[in-house]
Amino acid sequence: KNIVILISGRGSNMQAIVRAARSEQWPCRIAAVISNRADAEGLQFAAQHGIPAEVVVSKSFATRDAFDAALQSVIDRFEPDLIVLAGFMRILTPKFVEHYAGRMLNIHPSLLPSFPGLATHRQALAAGVKVHGATVHFVTAELDHGPIVAQAVVPVLPADNEQSLAERILVEEHKIYPQAVKWFVEGRLSIDNGVVRIADEP
Ligand code: GRF
Repeated sequence: KNIVILISGRGSNMQAIVRAARSEQWPCRIAAVISNRADAEGLQFAAQHGIPAEVVVSKSFATRDAFDAALQSVIDRFEPDLIVLAGFMRILTPKFVEHYAGRMLNIHPSLLPSFPGLATHRQALAAGVKVHGATVHFVTAELDHGPIVAQAVVPVLPADNEQSLAERILVEEHKIYPQAVKWFVEGRLSIDNGVVRIADEP
């Protein structure tokens, strides 16, 4: 299976997926890494690891539709079976999302459906929740609302600030995102009435 990974910055989730795919020899190829920012740090990792890297600069497009159309044409050159959003900080148009229905995953740093949107760790601290975490989900038109594939939970400690919480959760992101992508490439994920089913290991 061909995987295309979209990033906007550091790309640590992308790195975790690439490393796991290679070391565990998943039945897939990381076909490309695409960034909407030319200065995304993750592009260097892609280049160093022999992964085709592309940049489609979002801010040089006048509309979301124009950007998404350009992005889609670059993505589709790689004939992807799966699109992985890994810290890709763009809201996508319904048309784009529909084109990749059932084959686009995202990671969101909260226990969805709590705290969709931005600044999730700040939201969690303000709400006083005692546990927080991360969610891998299929992407649907409604932001941060698609069928849930995997979640990880961490405690919120009295001394936490946004950064300490983000660090504790990132460690877990690097475990659940590769796991979810692996399930997908093994053909084990299906969606039944909006709920993800994970088939047993063959
Ligand atoms: C992660 O916390 C991800 O959940 C969020 O943005 C961060 C991206 O980190 N959407 P990285 O680029 O994968 O290092």
